[in-house]
Formats: sequence, structure tokens, C-alpha cells
Amino acid sequence: MRLKNGFDSSKHGISLINQLAVILRSSEVHEVENLAVSRAISGFISQISEYIAIEGGFVLELRGDFFFINELRVRYVSEVMINFDYLVRLFRNLGIGGVVIQPGVGENDIVTLTKAIVKAPVVNPFEFIEQKMAYVGSIRVHRLKKIPEKDLLDAREMVKKSYFRAVSFTKGLMGGIQRREKVSLKKTKRMIVSLVDHIISQEQILIGMTSIKTYDEYTYHHSVNVSILAMALGQRLGLSKRQLIELGMASLLHDIGKLKVPKKILNKTAQLTEEEWRVMRRHPVCGVRILMKMRQLDFILLRSLIVAFEHHLSDTKSSYPKVTKALNLDLFSRIVSLADRYDAMTSARVYSRTPMTPDAALNLMIKRTVNHLDLFLLQIFINMIGIYPVGTLAVLDSGELGLVYENNPGIADRPRVLIIADSSGNLVDAVLFDLAEKNPDGGYKKTIVRTLDALQWHINIAQYFL
Ligand SMILES: [Fe+2]
Ligand SMILES: [Fe+2]
Repeated sequence: MRLKNGFDSSKHGISLINQLAVILRSSEVHEVENLAVSRAISGFISQISEYIAIEGGFVLELRGDFFFINELRVRYVSEVMINFDYLVRLFRNLGIGGVVIQPGVGENDIVTLTKAIVKAPVVNPFEFIEQKMAYVGSIRVHRLKKIPEKDLLDAREMVKKSYFRAVSFTKGLMGGIQRREKVSLKKTKRMIVSLVDHIISQEQILIGMTSIKTYDEYTYHHSVNVSILAMALGQRLGLSKRQLIELGMASLLHDIGKLKVPKKILNKTAQLTEEEWRVMRRHPVCGVRILMKMRQLDFILLRSLIVAFEHHLSDTKSSYPKVTKALNLDLFSRIVSLADRYDAMTSARVYSRTPMTPDAALNLMIKRTVNHLDLFLLQIFINMIGIYPVGTLAVLDSGELGLVYENNPGIADRPRVLIIADSSGNLVDAVLFDLAEKNPDGGYKKTIVRTLDALQWHINIAQYFL
């Protein structure tokens, strides 16, 4: 939060974005001259004037999935989430990357902007808006920058390296703890910091890495995946970098107690017996014991300890360990629990049934979530990974088979897919296609009609991502 003489710029920033969305949404339904719209515009003008008077200017930018005002990232707040998502989607569709508003802006200027946006055609919408705004001195619109394909490839390569480094580091760390060696949490922290940096700059690519599910080294991949998913969610909640590092550490160590569960139970392929489940359910408490023994007990370790203990506690029947007091779970525990369940459900664990498809896992999670706060977190989570998360196999209306490759920020149901089979079902060389692409008549070129189980179709997803 940035306060100047009691003026909370971050709160005002959220309110301004919300107000802008309200103006644009309502003018899609009514004429701009409508009373509701003109009231919203007057409200916006008085707010923005106050803002500019104190902050000196107003530069709104869309970077990836996030809005920045005057270089500061704007938090995601539950009350205005729908309006935020609407505006992200709208800006992306129209190719708007930013809006700069200068002192002296008047109601007429906002009316011109609103009309330009609402009336923008499907083909070259940005050019239309730019032309309409050319004579409005107090407002500038900027084009959304497209990242060159080569830069994307380089970024993907770098993120991939970091991901695998993290997995092998985690393997070493857990081995060390198992052998009761003195392990360095400083180095672990350094590894987490590098992941946090990628989360901030390359969120979608890093999330994509978590869709590579391997059988052999489940524990290490799982720990890293949960850590990535939890930090990405934390970032959307507006946690600071320091808090993200704490969350990353706590999530990496959430299942550390499984080191005390015999391998033959962990790796068992058949259903566990009641007795074996009893042993398995001890891992949160074992985790606490292991972490207590680490001598460098500091704040991060304390938080990890709470998460290790709480990550299977919930309002449902399957909650463990048994506790007598009413639940008041740590926010980090709730975040880790969500990331943990999603990753576990979509992975082919040795002791579980076949993995679920990502969208089926999300559906089941929605059904099972009762707590309000958890439901809110789940909503943001789905926004983050999309309705069709990376790794989902889908049939398109063209009859082709697509593999979801990357989530399109702000357009949860229109990811970028790799087309891997033609309409007759023959495998083809994978071609990347953006489902947000439209025909000149405004209709989408291709759309997902249903999802399939990649395992059932004997499609090795990892092969397409590595
Ligand atoms: Fe666990
Ligand atoms: Fe877990």
C-alpha cells in the first residue's frame, strides 16, 4: 500500500479500474447518453481527477494477466474480480495495451473513448480506436505488445531448465533429510527465489511445466508443482515477494512427513488397506517432527510447519489429522491444500487410480468445496490455469484434436492449442493454433467442443512439452 496524506493509491487504483469496466460494460447494453452510463462517467471523472492531482498522472497498463497503474501492480480483489476479468479480456480482444489519462480530462473525452471502444470493429479494432482518439489530447491509448516468437522460445527454454533444476534439487534435499544430514535451507531458498522470479515474469510458461506428470519421480515433481501453483495463486492474491518466497518454501516442504512413510506403502500400486491408510495419514504430524528437528527454526520454517500440519485439514469427512478445536486454517495452508489436490488428482500416482483430466479435476473440486474462502481461492485458481488447463486434450469443432499448450490470459475458455490430429483422427505434426483467433465476421475460427482423456487415447503429453 502507498499512502500519501491518507490517500491510498492502491485502493483508488482498484476502484478506477472497476469504474472503467462499469462504464464500458453498461455502454455495451445502453447508449452512452443513458443516465446510468453518464453517472458512471461523472463518478469516474471526479475520482480520476483526485487521483491525478495526488499521483501526478494515470498510466494504466495491461501486462500478461495483470493491470499496472503507474508501474505498480494492481491487486486482485474478490468484489471486483468479474469486472477486472472483463476489462482484461476486452483490452486483449481490442489489442489495447494501455491507457494514459492526463490532467484536465473531461467527461466528453471519456465519452469519446467509450464510444470508440464499444464501436470498434472485429478487424483492426485498435486502429479504429486510435483514429477516434487522435484529437483527444488528454487520453492516449497504447497498442498491446506482441512478444516475438523467438523470445517466447528462449523464455520457455530457460523456464524449463529452472523447473528441472528445482526437481533435482528437491530430490537432493529430501535425500539429505532422509539420511539425517545437515541440509541447507539457504540454498533451498535461493532455488525458490529463482522460481518466484519466473512466476512474476513468465507465469503461464511455468504453470505449463507442472502439467508434465511423470510416474517415476512423483514425489519430487509433486513438491515442485505444488510450490509453483501455490506461488502463482499467491501472486494473484497480491502477496509480496517475501511472502511468495515463504509460501514457496512451505509448499515445497508440505509432504516432507512422507519420508517417514515406508516406501512399500508409498509405491503400492493396489488400493491401500485401512492399516496402510492409517500410516499414510500420519505424514502431517511426521512432517512437523522433521521440521522441528531442523535447527535453523526461523519464521519460514515455522510457517512450513503449520502448512505441513494443516494441508489435509478441511471441513469435510476426509480431513486429517483429527483435531478437537474448530478449524481456523492458515491462508497458506488453504492455498497449498488447493494446489496439492489439483496436482494429485491430475497425476498418475503410483497408489492412485488413473489420473483425472485437468477440467474434470477442477469440476470435482468445485463440487466438493463448501467453505467461502476456499471457493474464492478456487475461483482465482481457475482463472489462472484456465477452464481447460495446459495438458488438456480437446476435440475442436473442426473435428481436429488439440492439446492445450498455453492459457490465453483473460480468456479462460480460449487457450492456445497444439493441433495434433486431423479430423480423421490421424496424428499430424503439431501446429500451434490460437483459439482466440476470429474470422472477419466476428465468429471464432475454432472452438473446443469436448475434452478427452489423454491416457485413454495413448497420447504422451510430456512429449509435446519437452
Ligand atoms: Fe500430503
Ligand atoms: Fe501433497
